[in-house]
Amino acid sequence: MTAEPISERSTEEFYDELASSYNDIIYRCAPRYDEMQMTMVDYVPNDLQPLRILDLGCGTGNLTLRVLEAFPEAEVVALDLSAEILDVCRRQCGTDRVSYLQQDFHSLDLPDAEFDLVVSSIAIHHVDDPAKQRLFNDVYASLRHDGVFTFVDQFRGETPGIYRRHMEVWKLFADSKGIPAEEWEMWMEHQQQHDYHATVGQQIAWLRQAEFQQVDCLWKHVLWTLLTARKVLE
Ligand SMILES: C[S@@+](CC[C@H](N)C(=O)[O-])C[C@H]1O[C@@H](n2cnc3c(N)ncnc32)[C@H](O)[C@@H]1O
Repeated sequence: MTAEPISERSTEEFYDELASSYNDIIYRCAPRYDEMQMTMVDYVPNDLQPLRILDLGCGTGNLTLRVLEAFPEAEVVALDLSAEILDVCRRQCGTDRVSYLQQDFHSLDLPDAEFDLVVSSIAIHHVDDPAKQRLFNDVYASLRHDGVFTFVDQFRGETPGIYRRHMEVWKLFADSKGIPAEEWEMWMEHQQQHDYHATVGQQIAWLRQAEFQQVDCLWKHVLWTLLTARKVLE
């Protein structure tokens, strides 16, 4: 058995500890949290009737609940690294239309050509750039023909100046929500230790390298960006 990288064990511990308070905290930390997830669901192509959906880094299940509601025929696999947050997700979803997988993005073990739709919200930036590229390949393999991969996440600015401004504007938002100083410090410490922001241009290129087509940016606000991509076999 191979040991997990230390930083990922720490990410797991971080979200284990945050699990019960996550839903209170996320709205004062992520601007336009509902809007970004609702836009993701709105842009799932009309010709796709997803029956099998995978939510990568499901957390407490806020996006899982949205796709359950939007696609009443679908079953969802909710995947996360943290056992504690999966427990909260299980309680919050409360339906047998969801099954749960405790897996690490670094070592995903997914069935081939299984899912019609793979979604993810604010999770993929927890792995470094080579791991993101492997993840995109894994997602591609797990999708059925015509399947869609769509994710919203924190992205780096294309220039250091834009990235710096993103961080300043994020802090202004957090201040406007009255975030306690120690909570902001907690996020900044977490970010320095465990977050790997890549640019929109880089991630679009990696999706194309993974053979995805119809790659596009659907929505953007400060760091938060929504991408979509489709597996189209000739
Ligand atoms: C900021 S939360 C987002 C949760 C949820 N998707 C949402 O939008 O509210 C990030 C989630 O990604 C999970 N995560 C972080 N690194 C991971 C990894 N290497 N493998 C699987 N899940 C991971 C965390 O445990 C956490 O639940």
